[in-house]
Amino acid sequence: MAKDFETMEDSNRSANPSIHDVSNPARRQYLQTATWLALFGSFHPLSVMGAQGENEANKTSRLNFQGLPPSTEDAVQVPAGYTFNILAAWGEPVGISGQMPAFRTDASNTAQEQAVQMGRHHDGLAFFSLNASSSHGVIMTNHEYTDDGLLHTDGMQNWSAEKVKKSQNAHGLSAYEARLDHKGWQMVRPSRYARRITLDTVFAVGGPAAGHPMMQTAADPSGRWIKGTLNNCASSKTPWGTYLSGEENWSFYFAAGEAPSPHHKRWGLRAKSFYQWESHDERFDASKHPNEPNRFGWIVEVDPMDPNSTPVKRTAIGRGAHEGAWVTESGDGRAVVYSGEDARFEYIYKFISRDKIAPGGAAANRELLDHGTLYVARFDADGTGKWLPMVHGHGPLTPANGFADQGEVLIKARQASDALGATKMDRPEWLTIDKETGWVYCTLTNNSNRGQDKFPDVDAANPRANNTMGQIIRWKDENAFAADTFVWNHLLLAGDPANERAQAKGNIQGDFFGCPDGLSMGPGGLLWIETDVHSSQLNQGEFKRIGNNQMLVCDPATAEVKRFLTGPNMCEITGLSFTPDGTTLFINIQHPGESPSDRGDPKNPGHYSVWPASTPGARPRSATVAIRKKDGGVIGL
Ligand code: FEO
Ligand code: CA
Ligand code: CA
Ligand code: CA
Repeated sequence: MAKDFETMEDSNRSANPSIHDVSNPARRQYLQTATWLALFGSFHPLSVMGAQGENEANKTSRLNFQGLPPSTEDAVQVPAGYTFNILAAWGEPVGISGQMPAFRTDASNTAQEQAVQMGRHHDGLAFFSLNASSSHGVIMTNHEYTDDGLLHTDGMQNWSAEKVKKSQNAHGLSAYEARLDHKGWQMVRPSRYARRITLDTVFAVGGPAAGHPMMQTAADPSGRWIKGTLNNCASSKTPWGTYLSGEENWSFYFAAGEAPSPHHKRWGLRAKSFYQWESHDERFDASKHPNEPNRFGWIVEVDPMDPNSTPVKRTAIGRGAHEGAWVTESGDGRAVVYSGEDARFEYIYKFISRDKIAPGGAAANRELLDHGTLYVARFDADGTGKWLPMVHGHGPLTPANGFADQGEVLIKARQASDALGATKMDRPEWLTIDKETGWVYCTLTNNSNRGQDKFPDVDAANPRANNTMGQIIRWKDENAFAADTFVWNHLLLAGDPANERAQAKGNIQGDFFGCPDGLSMGPGGLLWIETDVHSSQLNQGEFKRIGNNQMLVCDPATAEVKRFLTGPNMCEITGLSFTPDGTTLFINIQHPGESPSDRGDPKNPGHYSVWPASTPGARPRSATVAIRKKDGGVIGL
């Protein structure tokens, strides 16, 4: 989400210092020097990668397309030889039979209509093939948030229960059927797969926090049924065919009142919410319903093939401002789930299921993610790391320290990670797993508070103070993803190499960028990177040569980077999913035309962008873009 750029100061000004904090100036200087040496010396990918990197370094480029220059055009641009079409923009009916109200360009659709139309601000997405086809499938996509200035005809004036309901109905998830024809990818409507999930959809709670006293509310004394999901950011597919989505900046939706509890404070709740739902929907007033926030921040699992299935919040994976979660299989067949919290100075997690992944798809793995062990990462300065178990009764995770049971460890995962001395990261966004090499990659998008007064100092994994540009870190777990030890290094540090400030210069070989966010392994082991420079910074200052947000391709064997796509004004590029044969790549263009305030001006909705329209003044709309090679070949290769 865009707004997260300027948030989380309060929650992260935690009393728990980073274990990497160094108050001694001499020691601090030593660490900074050591870090820079490590980054540009022995930690460079070509030297750390050993056999993989050194052998590849002299080969010709594997990035077989003409890279694009940075752009400030209000358009999507792709390399020569590629084409794309746009589908499923905000407001399009998802295709529920008998409930397909047309989108109205003046944003006058009602809340009820919005509940069966594509929501706002598409983020993560995934393509689920039907019958192993690469031209027919179900796409599930997140609708992360709304800028209410553009969601309603007259913006946030005359704020009302109807407007709150429309905002809620523009959140959540959509599933729609899509098919490739001679004009490109189209929505299939009506469809038996079409579904909207909103703040009114009932979720079951799975795992150790189900039924926990901290999950119980007046409306749900059982603590086992939760209405809705929100701020769903990244997404992924599980090996058993379900969709995982992270509930990210849920704290912005709750009002904590003037005297927040230490727990609410640690999780970043403010006196009033950003979205102002609490004025017409009391459950978002955490001063009256203090446990309601505990029911958000989970990884949610949905079966995209069954629109009547009950989605589940998987508490065993831990609570956080979760960007998303990504699954692979350990050598002995268990699910290994990596996740992170996109918040300044928060953490990276790994969950290993107790049971093995069973053949038989979603139905055979209904409780797989409810039993297992959660770990949090500590990145040590020598290039090794440790997964610290988050198990009640072990180490500091005891009742005396405020953890009554495993449910409380998971609900208070941040506090537990603080107690364990995990490494405070520069806003972990997407992760992706290279099953061939065993490397797991993670974007750390930026953290301008790093190393600033009263905030944690730089450390080896987060080496730049006032980190405006971000980096991509990677690690390799011993024992085929299953061990609790790993080695790590940086694939690259983002940033314009021409920047004057040393810590805003990148070390990218090829096309430079800032603020990596979306990340996914693609065909041929190429790494796809999507960027999210906030609209208040795009094309200014240290970002002035970087252009609009974009998508790039990196060959991880050589660290070479090439720019593949540039987006319209004030958008973020996100979502990333290939068809099984790699001939279509689906991405999302999120929040084109977003104003620096994240609200939008209803009097001038097309001020920054009119995409995907071309009419002056048109209201910009998030949408999915389906990219294909003109010759029908595999994307990127
Ligand atoms: Fe929703 Fe961390 O981006
Ligand atoms: Ca986003
Ligand atoms: Ca993101
Ligand atoms: Ca982001």
